[in-house]
Amino acid sequence: MSRIESEIGKPQGGLMKWIDDRFPFTETMKYHITEYYAAKSFNVWYVFGVLAMVVLVIQFLTGIFLTMNYKPAAADAFASVEYIMRDVEWGWLIRYMHSTGASFFFIVVYLHMYRAMLYGSYKKPRELIWIIGMLIFLTLMAEAFAGYLLPWGQMSYWGAQVIISLFGAIPWVGDALVEIIRGDYSISDITLNRFFALHVIVLPLVLICLIFVHIVALHEVGSNNPDGIEIKEHKGANGIPLDGIAFHPYHTSKDLVAIIVFLMIFCAVVFFAPEMGGYFLEHANFEPANMRATPEHIAPVWYFTPFYAILRAVPSKLLGFILFGLSVVLPLFLPWLDRARVKSIRYRGWIYKSALTVFTITFVVLGWLGTMPAEGVYVLAARILSVIYFAFFLLMPYYTAIDKTKPVPDRVVYHG
Ligand code: HEM
Repeated sequence: MSRIESEIGKPQGGLMKWIDDRFPFTETMKYHITEYYAAKSFNVWYVFGVLAMVVLVIQFLTGIFLTMNYKPAAADAFASVEYIMRDVEWGWLIRYMHSTGASFFFIVVYLHMYRAMLYGSYKKPRELIWIIGMLIFLTLMAEAFAGYLLPWGQMSYWGAQVIISLFGAIPWVGDALVEIIRGDYSISDITLNRFFALHVIVLPLVLICLIFVHIVALHEVGSNNPDGIEIKEHKGANGIPLDGIAFHPYHTSKDLVAIIVFLMIFCAVVFFAPEMGGYFLEHANFEPANMRATPEHIAPVWYFTPFYAILRAVPSKLLGFILFGLSVVLPLFLPWLDRARVKSIRYRGWIYKSALTVFTITFVVLGWLGTMPAEGVYVLAARILSVIYFAFFLLMPYYTAIDKTKPVPDRVVYHG
């Protein structure tokens, strides 16, 4: 057989080459996975991004199966959820995975954001990763809010009623805006239908697109690390960062351990405490929506309660709404509010360390206050903590500028 004949007969490099000639598969894999170098010193704080993706997959898969049996109509929604729980094969598991997944999404994303605050990951050159992250966070909040109306329980109805009516406080356009969101003069079948469309199509699409650009932006500049050092500044003769290690197989194998541990915890909650004492699934939501009977105590799910506590701490409806909105979007400005010359908490001074500690406690306690009735000492505490919450962000340009930082080493530090 001549050389030409053998070349025609046998494709060079097989299927991979065939694909690579038409689509940059190997190149993309190298750029994003096998030749993406991230610091060797990643610690446990670095697993939450991957875990957020795992939860995303769980939510998509379980969501698809829920949608097959759920009925987005005011007259049928509650009963269809009960039908899923009792009659659909494995329906209870799918539903509990989805409702638990919602709470776990926020646990994982809050920890993921907190990591960025610990190690200054939002600082130059990663501002855009952070901004996109904040857009993901806002979309996730909208996604959870829309999803919560779907079971059409008492808290679905009244929770939505409280939050949607807030928009009515906006001067001039408020009332019209509330009507546009509801699609009706009160929360009704129409509202449920549009929230269903938002929850299953619009917001998941936005979320996917945002996560895609989040990763593209991350891989453009490279990951930060617990020392807040740019590993690209110290490359070996082969052009590979000296403190870097290929994402696959080194980080992926560590991430796999985290995923397994995470799934064990997730399963423990799904099987043994899916309501989590009323925090993951509120008791009032086991009753069908009744527009004539307000539940005794309206509180959103735990992941919204820090912001809800701020909202209720303010007596004026409009100001409360403004501060509520501000409390959610203020972190977006962290890259510019934080003027410290170091990134990582390891090299910051006592002022930032104390400020972050106080902020952490404030956020958690505000979350608890948001679940309590808005009266007496709870309101007073929420007012004081709201001031501290805003002070953490608004005074940041001052205290981070005067904070005495420690010298940052050239290369990353390993804690064996
Ligand atoms: C569905 C939600 C999200 C997913 C799937 C996701 C995914 C990821 C992944 C896989 C990474 C790289 C691994 C890691 O550093 O943990 C990452 C990094 C990062 N994410 Fe997210 N993310 C999400 C939400 C957010 C949010 C809400 C923020 C902030 C508001 C954020 C800010 C960041 C930052 C600053 C980095 C770079 C961290 C560093 O290099 O130290 N992300 N994200």
